[in-house]
Amino acid sequence: MNHSGDDVLQKAVMDRLEDFQASIRTYRRTTRRPPTFLRDGVAPRMRDDAFAKARVFPDRETMMLDVVAKGGIGAELGVQAGNFSRFLLDGLAPSRLYLFDLAADPIRQDVKADPRVSLHIGDSSSNLAARRETVFDWIYIDGDHSLTGARKDAQAALQRIRPGGLLIFNDYTPWSIAEAMPYGVIPVVNELVNEGLNFEAIALSPWGYFDVTLRAPG
Ligand SMILES: C[S@@+](CC[C@H](N)C(=O)[O-])C[C@H]1O[C@@H](n2cnc3c(N)ncnc32)[C@H](O)[C@@H]1O
Repeated sequence: MNHSGDDVLQKAVMDRLEDFQASIRTYRRTTRRPPTFLRDGVAPRMRDDAFAKARVFPDRETMMLDVVAKGGIGAELGVQAGNFSRFLLDGLAPSRLYLFDLAADPIRQDVKADPRVSLHIGDSSSNLAARRETVFDWIYIDGDHSLTGARKDAQAALQRIRPGGLLIFNDYTPWSIAEAMPYGVIPVVNELVNEGLNFEAIALSPWGYFDVTLRAPG
């Protein structure tokens, strides 16, 4: 795309952003309420004692290399092109990596062909829950980011994770800046912490797409 084409597209977004912001100002002025309907779910405050071992990392790759033990059985829910799967295979050397997505076509060929990879196409929560024979050391959750979708993936992951295993959530953010849509990951994570999982780590991201690592009770 040429530069002027990009400029035109950017202007279209920014014009609509101004309208969007004006409509929020009108809503707040008229109702005297914040636009809570823009959130997907309400996050409870997390218990204080969940953070005794919590650490902060500059990015998700550094966090994953630190918190995940090499050679384990892992899963990634939501794969897209498979670039992060490639990192997981190379960096964490899993003995098996189970990949879950709605579509196989976008996933890079070298990932699909890796002998350690097992690919499961369809809804990730249903497919993960159906793998009754597999116990995972860690599960990376990055599929459907709505409150309902993230909650279903989290519940399926809880059934399949080993005691003391790790649930890692991508996109711990209330709002996706690249899509201008709400995400429901924060309420799901905070609820899990209050149900007994420990908050082990958070990885920062310049776009605000933070990752958090929770440890299941041992
Ligand atoms: C943000 S992308 C994943 C990015 C990838 N984890 C990475 O870090 O590069 C989200 C993916 O989740 C998939 N997805 C969305 N809803 C899903 C569902 N219900 N079951 C399985 N996959 C889903 C989409 O097809 C998309 O490929």
